[in-house]
Amino acid sequence: MQFTVAIDGPAAAGKGTIGRALAARFGFAHLDTGLLYRAVGALGGDPVAAARGLTAADLARDDLRSMAAGQAASVVAVIPEVRAALVDFQRRFARAEGGAVLDGRDIGTVICPQAEVKLYVTASAEVRAHRRWLELGGDATRVLAEVIERDARDMGRAEAPLRAASDAVVIDTSALPIEAAIAAAVALVQAKL
Ligand code: DC
Repeated sequence: MQFTVAIDGPAAAGKGTIGRALAARFGFAHLDTGLLYRAVGALGGDPVAAARGLTAADLARDDLRSMAAGQAASVVAVIPEVRAALVDFQRRFARAEGGAVLDGRDIGTVICPQAEVKLYVTASAEVRAHRRWLELGGDATRVLAEVIERDARDMGRAEAPLRAASDAVVIDTSALPIEAAIAAAVALVQAKL
């Protein structure tokens, strides 16, 4: 069986949590596509060469979760050749036997426009910054500024900007407990299976 769940949205909206929950519930494989861009940003040097030569070991680095790695990822993600180098891997993953969940910024719009279920998970910048601050610490005002800066870059770039696909179901987690968001996502997948 091939079945793709595409989850897009800004940083710290809850995409990863919902994606992992769906994968566990339905036995699907899960790919956090942000990790690909984070690894390219962390490798340094020529980002296009890094994207073309990405290995499993690059994705397993333990320094990819920081705010700095997120910013570096967002910067290299603007480069069309970087994005192009990562398309085939993501599409193969999406159509692998047994079902797949991919979360990122352009999954429902560019990578998997035919996905069986598309979600756009979002929340206010203030709520998302607060979550990042609880997770990673640091100066709260600066964390909010970085979230806003990253949103602007991811939404404003020319190539595959972050936006909801026209047929995506929007889940706003600003005031919604994560359990309720997961339940809504599970119900949507269940209905399509
Ligand atoms: O989801 P994340 O915070 O790990 O993503 C890090 C950055 O990578 C994000 O700010 C933009 C980029 N990205 C992208 O352009 N397309 C994706 N599908 C996933 C991430």
